[in-house]
Amino acid sequence: MIITDTHTHLYSEAFDDDRSEVIERALEAGVTRFFIPAIDSSYTEAMYALQKSYPKQMFLMMGVHPTHVKENYLEELSHVKEQLETRKFVAIGEIGIDLFWDQSMLQKQQVMFRAQIQLAKQYKLPIVIHCREAFDEVFEILEEEKGADLFGIFHCFTGTFEQAQRAISFNMKLGIGGVVTFKNGKIDQFLNQIDLKHIVLETDAPYLSPVPYRGKRNESSYILNVLEKLSDIYGVSKDYIAEITTENSKSVFKL
Ligand code: NI
Repeated sequence: MIITDTHTHLYSEAFDDDRSEVIERALEAGVTRFFIPAIDSSYTEAMYALQKSYPKQMFLMMGVHPTHVKENYLEELSHVKEQLETRKFVAIGEIGIDLFWDQSMLQKQQVMFRAQIQLAKQYKLPIVIHCREAFDEVFEILEEEKGADLFGIFHCFTGTFEQAQRAISFNMKLGIGGVVTFKNGKIDQFLNQIDLKHIVLETDAPYLSPVPYRGKRNESSYILNVLEKLSDIYGVSKDYIAEITTENSKSVFKL
């Protein structure tokens, strides 16, 4: 069984004390492919160090996370462009709009989301979308940018059935993680109406731990709890879910 964590911040300072043990636990659990979303330039060196340690398992994305779009956003965009010119990445992410923390940055977040979608198209890469309290704003931009050259993952999908269908209509897979195990997570109510070909697995470690670890630091091995829940929801084996979601991730990231 090959399990793919399509979204894990293993370079985060949350893992500074025990990173190798965390990765070892995941590898032992069968998680052997890790897709690493960027946050901002302050983490770039840590991401490169992680990939150097595990070159066959770690696949890096490049981009600026919407909650890290600040006054210096154009410098951050230049940093992204420079990295794209010098290295290979598997996606532009995570990018998008987050109105939960700070609504005053909406306009800058929109500028950055659009600019980074352009980069994804230029480099023929998928995008990995972060969307929090901003479905309308994200869909507005996807509507403008939609086409065969726009594809990717709607990371940590937490919307309604209709929003799920809309995301899929823009060539997006749904990234499903710990939220599916929450009692109030809601997506477990309709997920079985979404074909598994649209689903990929993720943890978003160190955030959003699945039950029974909710509230604690998340790590990639906990993806087994997500797998278990999806096996219940779809009424198929965990092996089957692991296989199809790994295949889906391969088709998005083209590796
Ligand atoms: Ni993330």
